[in-house]
Amino acid sequence: MRRVHVEDIENGMVLARPVYSSNGTRLLQEGATLKEKYIPKIKELGYNAVYIQDELLEDVEVNDLINEELKREAVEEIKDTFKKVDNKVSLENQVDDIKSVLNKIMEDVLDRKNSIVDIIDMKMYNEYLFHHSVNVAILSMIVGMSMGFNSYDLYKLGLGALLHDVGKLEISNDILNKEGKLTEEEYEQVKTHSQQGYEKLKDQEQIPSTAKIVILQHHERYNGEGYPNGKAGEDIHVFSRIVSVVDVFDALISDRPYRKGVVPSEAMEYILGGAGSLFDKRVVGHFFKKVAAFPVGSEVVLNDGRQGLVIENFESYSLRPRVRIIKEKGQDIQPYDIDLRETKYNKVTIVKVAEGEAEQSNFSQEATG
Ligand SMILES: [Fe+2]
Repeated sequence: MRRVHVEDIENGMVLARPVYSSNGTRLLQEGATLKEKYIPKIKELGYNAVYIQDELLEDVEVNDLINEELKREAVEEIKDTFKKVDNKVSLENQVDDIKSVLNKIMEDVLDRKNSIVDIIDMKMYNEYLFHHSVNVAILSMIVGMSMGFNSYDLYKLGLGALLHDVGKLEISNDILNKEGKLTEEEYEQVKTHSQQGYEKLKDQEQIPSTAKIVILQHHERYNGEGYPNGKAGEDIHVFSRIVSVVDVFDALISDRPYRKGVVPSEAMEYILGGAGSLFDKRVVGHFFKKVAAFPVGSEVVLNDGRQGLVIENFESYSLRPRVRIIKEKGQDIQPYDIDLRETKYNKVTIVKVAEGEAEQSNFSQEATG
């Protein structure tokens, strides 16, 4: 399957992933043929891209973050939770439901213990906060699992990650969705969300204290340059150090009103560049081991000019997937596969992702804010 931007979808393409409405109803099944009249509807729903079947990749499997249904369930759960928090309703009765969703995610994550994930997320633009929260929870738990955490720790980490941005409820949507660059003042306001989120939940006894610490600390940076308290190194809880990496990664790959998302490999480069300064090196190492820089379906260009599609990723080899070569010297050829882990391909690297027309702007704001 191939990721196709909404502006490029055409009549007759066949969906490789279902399309959902914002309340989680499945509107179009996997395998459905796109008709002209569906296209504006998909855009209206807020999708930035859809997944389309591709005969060149028919035999290819994707190691999704988690299954789509469970993802929807989690999105609905966090939506509900945020609504309750916003209305100052106690989470006493909600925590069990959240726990059950997190447990399902954990099972899913543990099931794929020795694999690497292909991020092929379809976030709905207007539901960014909820999708982002769920993604950050899942990815954090994957990193936590790689670091050998027990299931209770994974639960606390997952819960903190799921709620990390709850303080954004206090920030006006005009600022959160602003298309241009934030003014100094607006940015200062955004920066209050971690403290505000913590204040909102600090008295809720059913929420473990380490989960609350994640809310407070997820914008602290390893070198002490973060906020709200400028904590550094091991003074930042390890859960918060994990969430900070994952949060920045997911934010960078997402389309935002003020910029388009970058491809995972670019976001990864940014994270790797910050290892040891902005981010905990050890956490970055585990992240890099578990998340594919070039998800299955990515169109890539190799340093020898050959072009192809990524068809499989391997744990610990984030940059060296198996690639189906489809073009040489710009000409279509009979496709064949190469495995970049093999020593004979030592000198072959991926230099470009073809779909990456994304601009690199506002990176620094994400790094600190
Ligand atoms: Fe945040």
